[in-house]
Amino acid sequence: MNSFAKITAQGSYVPEQIMDNHDFENIVDTSDEWIQQRTGIVERRITKEDEYTSDISYKAVLDLQEKYQVDLSDVDMIVNATLTADYKTPSVASYVQAKLELENAGAIDINAACAGFTYGLNIANGLITSGQNKKVLVIGAETLSKITDYKDRGTCILFGDGAGAFLVEYSEDETSFVASDAGSDGKKGHNLYCSELSEAMFDEALENPGFIVQNGRGVYKWAVGNVPRIIEQTLNKANYTKEDLDWFVPHSANARMIESICDKSGIARDKALKSLEYYGNTSSATIPLAIDLAVKENKIKKGDLVLLVGFGGGLAYASTLIKWTL
Ligand code: COA
Repeated sequence: MNSFAKITAQGSYVPEQIMDNHDFENIVDTSDEWIQQRTGIVERRITKEDEYTSDISYKAVLDLQEKYQVDLSDVDMIVNATLTADYKTPSVASYVQAKLELENAGAIDINAACAGFTYGLNIANGLITSGQNKKVLVIGAETLSKITDYKDRGTCILFGDGAGAFLVEYSEDETSFVASDAGSDGKKGHNLYCSELSEAMFDEALENPGFIVQNGRGVYKWAVGNVPRIIEQTLNKANYTKEDLDWFVPHSANARMIESICDKSGIARDKALKSLEYYGNTSSATIPLAIDLAVKENKIKKGDLVLLVGFGGGLAYASTLIKWTL
């Protein structure tokens, strides 16, 4: 008997409060024009002070449930991708499990920064096809506003809060997962990090405890130099070419960066689905948010071949090539 993993539902949630580019003009030396030109970002969402990653993760799952009327009572694993957990422990996934009252579900968080959601999907595929689980919730959720230094104009304009969720289920006859790839360039990790308050692995961390610190140029260069190779490797694994792709969903960090990756890879720019314009860089949530927007706009159709590539802090990456099954 075959054992496949199939995506059966997707949902999202973003906080109500909008912070647009003009709001930053009052905080740091910047302009709407600079931000739009350099990043493509127009606005982002910000959680309330007492609204945490587990809260928005839960709401993304409720959205998925309401839209697709799926039964979640027998979910047996929750994988929450995040770098902004409410606490070091318990995990965000455990809070989600409690909020959903899923007594028989396992719960783990994974931290692969902006590659977290694609890592999570590949883990769900592995858990299901190996026979360990039958129904897995994969969530990408961040409250980056809580670790953003609003005095640093080079980073504060980039980040936002949001959550996206997929349900992945066992199937005997249909798979969503075609091919995947993953890797990390840990020696370049210092280009993007967030220290704990008491830790200072990198020298500058002492000056920026608890905030995201980024060498924007360094990350940009690494992504444009490496993501095209990741795209090719993933497609080759399944004997597909870029022409076969219906949609490309890269991590939504910067519109110019995505355009460069598309041009270098020979993928038409209008095949790239993005969430950054209205939500900014939401790390592990950018990919499910981009897909959620595309589903709402009737862009993605059942049977479409879609390549998801998450990349960022680590510097880690994970890709997954899927056939859209909704
Ligand atoms: N408004 C106005 N000017 C700004 C600014 C802002 N918000 N942020 C930086 N600048 C200035 C810099 O101080 C610098 O000024 P200088 O030339 O007088 O020194 C100038 O703009 C250029 O800075 P630089 O950092 O080289 O700009 P950039 O074109 O690389 O754009 C990023 C900066 C952050 C938008 C860009 O590097 C980026 O998006 N990188 C990728 C980030 C990313 O993807 N991160 C997440 C990966 S998961």
